Amino acid sequence: MSHKASWIVVSLFLAVSIILLGFKVAQAGEFWAFPPDAPASEYGNMIINRTSEKNGQKPVMFSHWLHRTRFTCRVCHFELEFNMKVNTTEITEKANQAGFHCGAASCHDGKAAFGHQEPHCNNCHSGNKTDGSQKFGELASRLPQSRFGNHIDWDEAMQKGLINPSHYISIMPPDDIEFKAQLVLDAGWTNIPPAVFPHKPHIQWLDCNNCHPDIFNIKKKTTKHFEMIRILNGEFCGVCHMTVAFPMSNCKPCHPGIKRS
Ligand code: HEC
Ligand code: HEC
Ligand code: HEC
Ligand code: HEC
Ligand code: HEC
Repeated sequence: MSHKASWIVVSLFLAVSIILLGFKVAQAGEFWAFPPDAPASEYGNMIINRTSEKNGQKPVMFSHWLHRTRFTCRVCHFELEFNMKVNTTEITEKANQAGFHCGAASCHDGKAAFGHQEPHCNNCHSGNKTDGSQKFGELASRLPQSRFGNHIDWDEAMQKGLINPSHYISIMPPDDIEFKAQLVLDAGWTNIPPAVFPHKPHIQWLDCNNCHPDIFNIKKKTTKHFEMIRILNGEFCGVCHMTVAFPMSNCKPCHPGIKRS
């Protein structure tokens, strides 16, 4: 074959592969059920109502966007031991008032932030998921934007120092454990660009213990049943990337090779 002919063959082959890949990805997007997007100001807002209504109080509204500008996930989900599943932590008002959970020192202790007395009860017990949308607008307007979740690029906001959340309130992270490796997780399907998992942006927000060993094994490609269908069911990456961190509809950061957003 002449140079020109082989060039045509190669180009044709590439063109067909790209079309097939595009098709497969589009199919994948439709095949899986993505949850509808919440309004930006409500993404990560949750209603806590394990005991409130049973005891004559309105449910509690907890907002992630509001709190993550001041504290990293590690503070609440490692130091304060809130579970990463709403309505599973045994939070009680008695414990709050005794300095645990929401009432921990540096938190809602009446000094760092409003405490657990009148007239502040309804700041938390509002029962309203749309609380603070005006404040959200002010915050979002000064942070880098994205098209997903809170429509805020939290990673960039952190990199640029536009927010500076505390990484601990009482238990300092050990400074000798650092792991910044970016892992390439080949997808189980041919034609699908592999997923990447960068440790660096995660350990700025999280403790190793938030993921290891409960969500992921500490050896690459050994976590069982680690597939998109399960992720979309709220397991693995989906624990955070369907609820608080950028949502699953944003393929690109996880599959840099995918053409669609
Ligand atoms: C900083 C936030 C916050 C403030 C302020 C607050 N609470 Fe709560 N409270 C909670 C959370 C979170 C729960 C657990 C809610 C659940 O699981 O339903 C809770 C639970 C309760 C419960 C459920 C039963 C129990 O005893 O645990 C009652 C009743 C209650 N609070 C009353 C009050 C009253 C009265 C005030 C004001 C004097 C108040 N709370 C102030 C966050 C708050
Ligand atoms: C100020 C404390 C605080 C911070 C900071 C915080 N969270 Fe939470 N988070 C909570 C509380 C409280 C709950 C509800 C726990 C419960 O009801 O058992 C929760 C629930 C969750 C859930 C469960 C969602 C669901 O729908 O079941 C996930 C996932 C989560 N948080 C992830 C994160 C991530 C990721 C970050 C950091 C970007 C973060 N949280 C930062 C306090 C916090
Ligand atoms: C947001 C979740 C998350 C956090 C936080 C996290 N990891 Fe990982 N880690 C993963 C995932 C996902 C894998 C790959 C698991 C798989 O493929 O089965 C992994 C794999 C690893 C591996 C194996 C690498 C290899 O090549 O086999 C090591 C070592 C590791 N993590 C150490 C750490 C340490 C140390 C920290 C804290 C500084 C940490 N991780 C924090 C999610 C996390
Ligand atoms: C325990 C919570 C948690 C889990 C589990 C988790 N992430 Fe994340 N991830 C975050 C948070 C928080 C951020 C910061 C950005 C944000 O909040 O949107 C982030 C950021 C990222 C980024 C960086 C995006 C950027 O802008 O640079 C990538 C890529 C990513 N996650 C991929 C993954 C993949 C792939 C998995 C599963 C293997 C995973 N994550 C599991 C919480 C989590
Ligand atoms: C938060 C990260 C994340 C996001 C966002 C994400 N994926 Fe994935 N995806 C993964 C991981 C991790 C795997 C690989 C699991 C494995 O096999 O190790 C994967 C695997 C796949 C696979 C292979 C099939 C399988 O079940 O393993 C396809 C197809 C896929 N993703 C398509 C998509 C499409 C399309 C989007 C956007 C609409 C998307 N993904 C968004 C993390 C993500």
